Amino acid sequence: MKLEDAKRDQYRRLAREQGYKSRAAYKLLENVRKYRLIKSGDVVIDFGAAPGGWMQVASETVGDSGLVVGVDLEPVHLSEPNVVSIQSDVNSPQLSLKLEKALPRKADVVLSDLSPQVIGTWDIDHFRQIELTLAASGLMAGFLRKGGNAMLKVFDGERFGETRAMLSKQFEKVHVTKPKASRKGSSELYLVCLGFLQ
Ligand SMILES: C[S@@+](CC[C@H](N)C(=O)[O-])C[C@H]1O[C@@H](n2cnc3c(N)ncnc32)[C@H](O)[C@@H]1O
Repeated sequence: MKLEDAKRDQYRRLAREQGYKSRAAYKLLENVRKYRLIKSGDVVIDFGAAPGGWMQVASETVGDSGLVVGVDLEPVHLSEPNVVSIQSDVNSPQLSLKLEKALPRKADVVLSDLSPQVIGTWDIDHFRQIELTLAASGLMAGFLRKGGNAMLKVFDGERFGETRAMLSKQFEKVHVTKPKASRKGSSELYLVCLGFLQ
């Protein structure tokens, strides 16, 4: 077994043991610990939330006084009392209204792990993923409070630089990260964006 496959299996096993819906949970957990991205009592929006690993990590971190609202094309089945899931396309014109109804106030944190169905043609996958990230960041502009944080997945490629530059204008600080649970060979990077300027 290759080292990368072993690492993937290790996180998959850990997720099973610790009751997380996906090994993706560890990508968020690493950055929550490193950057204090999410805090107790926070309101969090999670775009591309299914099957729900990130929502579980966010739910544990915000605790009883916080709320996590997940959005995905697929349903998310979680029983935690501080989570709400919205089954929707991020590009749906009705989504803003649904978010307004679900949120008690503007969010402290916006997360996006959105991925298209990858077809293996690298530049097409990259462009589609960037389009999804732009849809999430468009919504973020209306729903994230001043001073809030974000963590957005971006596939590396031609449009990575412009996406990072756009976010750098919107936040005090943007860190490019590759969490340990992310396969080395995959083109995904995670932008940790701190201090939304509005
Ligand atoms: C990598 S998975 C997310 C994993 C999740 N962070 C977790 O921890 O379980 C990417 C998700 O993006 C969702 N997605 C893709 N296109 C979407 C769209 N247009 N609108 C909403 N969700 C979308 C997929 O359905 C998929 O569940």
